Amino acid sequence: MNRVYVKTYGCQMNERDSEAVSSKLRARGYSIVDDEKNADVVLLNTCSVRDQAEQKAIGKAGYLAARKKKTPNFVFGVMGCMAQNHGEDLLDRLPDLDLIVGTQKFHRIPDHLDNIVSTITGLGPSPQTIIDLGDEEDSQNEIREHTPDQLKVSAFVSIMQGCNMNCAFCIVPKTRGEERYRPIEQIVAEVEELVSSGTREVTLLGQIVNAYGRGQIPFFKGKSPFVQLLEAIHEVKSLKRIRFTSPHPVGYGKDLVNAYRELPKLCEYAHLPVQSGSNRILKAMNRPYTKEKFLRIVDSLRESVPDIYLSTDIIVGFPGETETDYEQTKDLFEEVGFEMAFIFKYSIRTGTKAADLADQIPRETKETRNQELLRILEKSSLRRNESLLGSSQQVLVEGPARKGKGQYIGRTRGFRKVIFPGNKRMVGQLLDVKIEEATVTILHGLPTLTKSTLEANSSTV
Ligand code: 5AD
Repeated sequence: MNRVYVKTYGCQMNERDSEAVSSKLRARGYSIVDDEKNADVVLLNTCSVRDQAEQKAIGKAGYLAARKKKTPNFVFGVMGCMAQNHGEDLLDRLPDLDLIVGTQKFHRIPDHLDNIVSTITGLGPSPQTIIDLGDEEDSQNEIREHTPDQLKVSAFVSIMQGCNMNCAFCIVPKTRGEERYRPIEQIVAEVEELVSSGTREVTLLGQIVNAYGRGQIPFFKGKSPFVQLLEAIHEVKSLKRIRFTSPHPVGYGKDLVNAYRELPKLCEYAHLPVQSGSNRILKAMNRPYTKEKFLRIVDSLRESVPDIYLSTDIIVGFPGETETDYEQTKDLFEEVGFEMAFIFKYSIRTGTKAADLADQIPRETKETRNQELLRILEKSSLRRNESLLGSSQQVLVEGPARKGKGQYIGRTRGFRKVIFPGNKRMVGQLLDVKIEEATVTILHGLPTLTKSTLEANSSTV
């Protein structure tokens, strides 16, 4: 009764939560398996940001319910955003669920599973669904354990939970609650520990990551709490790269823009979720900027860091989005020329402001707009990748590529995937790779042992 499989839907924050839960379960004597067929317990860590994500998890849970019918000792649970969003109502569709755990209660899962297991093995009272959904003070500090026995060249570090914005389309404030920040020292200690076990790159995570510490940690010498945190992490010896996600465009103040130049470990990559290029729609979305302000943020980043990589999120088909609104989004999208983008079709989320708006956009219109933006994205991604042909790019080697014998994979500072012939000694190293082939999503190249490679790896700063 102690083999657990955790399936994760959705964002990097969810991946990180699953990892921390798995780690806590291991410490409690459970083993984490990577094939659900071998599991006695399956936990679904869910996403609510679009209906499709919820439907996927519900479909999967239905399949697990059928398994439980045949094998009554089998245990299954739903945790994370969908659990928080629907709570007990999930039982209407899934009456046999053993566990429903919200986003502030992940750390309680080992206790809950112990209870369920002792019940099932006849040591406790008759089985009943455990539902644990409340707010819990300091729960943001519970997402800290990693898996020390597996080398992770690149690791996620959760620095905060929740989001205080009030975007009309978004369910996250409901599922993740109010912003709660971890103390800088604790985050730095976690990064140090990771680095001592071989990690060379960290990605700081939060639902609105560059709002870290606002209202709680004072500005210092004109620097926001987030930039103070970046500076503190930058000091960690042997850490080579810092990234962060998911930020808000208005959080790219002067201090953060300057940080790209002042902190060499901070990779030249900025995610700027614009959502729409129409001021009318931005207002209806309750986004606190105009298209003009957004473009000024882009300019300030490009002025400061000319070769920066930019990515974005866009929602097409927000209620009331006319052809003219959409054209404005398209123009902005083409004008900026993002290297990466996530383009979403608006999905009604009950309980959000936009759910009650009239003038929902037909599915086919959303689909057409989505496809058109994807075609534009392909072109701009390819253009940037092709511009790298013949150049030497610094790659952090993550491990063997999935395909191809002797092929290894890593990322450039701009987060582009590179595949090259390698060996296991290269894992965790910064390598210069000469780019020989470029597609929309992948670069291929050959490592070159240059002076800068040797220096980058030998320096301990
Ligand atoms: N419908 C479609 N996309 C959404 N997102 C958030 N809520 C919705 C919704 N209701 C997108 C936004 C956000 C990303 C994480 O998901 O673009 O930035």
